[in-house]
Amino acid sequence: MSEARAVLSIDDLSDDEIRRILSTAGEYLPEGKRKLNKRRFSIALLFLTPSTRTRAGFAEAALRLGGAPVDVSALRWDSGMSTPESLEDTLRIITGMFDVTVVRVPVSLDRETIPHHIAGVLVNGGDSSPGEHPSQALIDLFAIRSLRGLERDLRIGICGDLMARSCRSLLRLFDRFPPAALTLFSPPELRDGEPALGPSLAAVTSEREEADFSDVDVLCMVGFPATPRSTSLGFDMRNRYSLTHSRLSRMRDDAIVLSPMPVIDEISADARVDPRVRMFEQSDMAVSVRMAILDVIGELR
Ligand code: CP
Repeated sequence: MSEARAVLSIDDLSDDEIRRILSTAGEYLPEGKRKLNKRRFSIALLFLTPSTRTRAGFAEAALRLGGAPVDVSALRWDSGMSTPESLEDTLRIITGMFDVTVVRVPVSLDRETIPHHIAGVLVNGGDSSPGEHPSQALIDLFAIRSLRGLERDLRIGICGDLMARSCRSLLRLFDRFPPAALTLFSPPELRDGEPALGPSLAAVTSEREEADFSDVDVLCMVGFPATPRSTSLGFDMRNRYSLTHSRLSRMRDDAIVLSPMPVIDEISADARVDPRVRMFEQSDMAVSVRMAILDVIGELR
């Protein structure tokens, strides 16, 4: 069995581990390349709210590494069960059975208590407010590095709900590996409780109310994933922060646009066909990054 360890936040990874994940993902990237590990490992996919990419991505990553993914559902944690149990007990039981457990839950995973209630490696596959989604942020950084390069003068924009879980993890990652400039585009209504930026990232960050993306090299369209906060946003406000063909036409020729997906309405139909919109290539890299996460965090080598 792997030793107990919780990766609930980007902050649970060291700089060295992040660098190793990015370089290992590069080794796994060539299409169809499958590497069997030295030892067989098991992985539980404990997804209690919907997911397409994260669940399927970790399952395929495990299979490519020679692991055995198991879907865990209909848990006794569910209040619909005749005898519900605490999430802590459920996590202790499942992490005691599997080498790695990836979890997505409709509650916030408590950073203080959860690490004391697990017996194997636990990876946060996206929890709820104030949530995080560390694997998605690592995919985003890997895609930026692969598609645009980590140039010293890189100017990055993030547009949408900055409290969205993937964005919270991405901001923590940029705190550790800051770009030359970061511009945040988000509605004033959603600014309450925005994640605090570390000093090095705060020094290069500015906020812009206007959706003018003309000076960014990489635009991360995080959009407005469905949460009680963002569902109150009106159509006009969503439209004000969407990537339309006309806004895209004012962007640099060598800019790229990424998205953690799913895309709801933050990228219009006539913008998404532009070759600068690279979200499907970004998504195609995700299995390699998740393989690297399992490899590095699960200490599979
Ligand atoms: N980006 C992401 O987390 O997608 P899923 O919700 O489909 O897993």
